[in-house]
Amino acid sequence: MKVLITGAGGQLGKELIQLFTMWGYKVCSYSRSQLDITNYIEVKNILKRDQPDILINTAAFTKVDLCETELKQAYLVNAIGAYYLACQAKEIKAKFFHISTDYVFDGEKYEPYIEEDFTRPKTIYGKSKELGEVLALATYQNTTVIRTSWLYGHEGNNFVNTIKELANCAKEIRVVSDQYGCPTYTKDIGFALKQLLTKPSGIYHISNYGSCSWFEFANEILKILNAKVRVIPVSSKEYGSKTPRPMYSVLSSRKINSNGIFLREWKKSLHEYLVKEGDKDEY
Ligand SMILES: NC(=O)c1ccc[n+]([C@@H]2O[C@H](COP(=O)([O-])OP(=O)(O)OC[C@H]3O[C@@H](n4cnc5c(N)ncnc54)[C@H](OP(=O)(O)O)[C@@H]3O)[C@@H](O)[C@H]2O)c1
Repeated sequence: MKVLITGAGGQLGKELIQLFTMWGYKVCSYSRSQLDITNYIEVKNILKRDQPDILINTAAFTKVDLCETELKQAYLVNAIGAYYLACQAKEIKAKFFHISTDYVFDGEKYEPYIEEDFTRPKTIYGKSKELGEVLALATYQNTTVIRTSWLYGHEGNNFVNTIKELANCAKEIRVVSDQYGCPTYTKDIGFALKQLLTKPSGIYHISNYGSCSWFEFANEILKILNAKVRVIPVSSKEYGSKTPRPMYSVLSSRKINSNGIFLREWKKSLHEYLVKEGDKDEY
């Protein structure tokens, strides 16, 4: 089986390349410089040449604040790019997996979001990702949209790695305590995605089990690292992000669970992640 992975330079892309190679798939992977998903001709030529059985799109414009000012690029990558890939996946009859986000929701539900819930993104990032979902699903029936949240992987700019760095140099840090979500280890998405290969297409929510605030997440990271850093809880308002994030974007695992797919509890995965990073000797 041949898998083609876009966004190979990103944290999820890198993880999936490793996993699918380990599982014995023939993996073709392309970073942005090798395959720009906003370039229709490039997408068409590469997919036609490689003829993958499975296409996984992890490429995205993920900088939430920057999306607000670089609207055109946000929509080009997150929406039009997804559309081009869906068109070509359809052409070569590859199963298409498109990665999306909890930011398609407004965060005002205050109970876990299910796949059927109405999307109502508040940011350009969320709106462009929402359009990507809609275009991909409408273009090709063999499309699976995976919404995930609060990702961290070994080679990425993410919250866990930021807190780790701060643990070495800061005495106290301010962390938002009124936004809730599901921290998710890229490796666990890979295992779930592999199981989804044989399931019907459609939308699936995939995140580690359980939820927390960023404040609780930071405290758990520091506890595992045994770092003596004071964490000061602050409200979103006090923190003053340029772009508002959803206050509550916990994703329900109900659908994947009913398909026999179960992810680990977030603390367990975080523990394994930090052990693998070499910060703790044992699991
Ligand atoms: N990170 C999270 O917390 C999070 C949460 C929920 C959902 N997601 C979704 O999960 C997926 C993977 O996220 P991630 O954390 O792995 O993001 P990431 O580390 O930012 O990786 C995204 C990759 O896409 C590449 N890219 C950007 N524009 C491209 C283009 N036009 N053509 C080809 N590649 C392009 C980027 O390259 P450059 O670096 O060169 O721009 C980057 O290597 C995305 O769909 C994202 O929306 C992420």
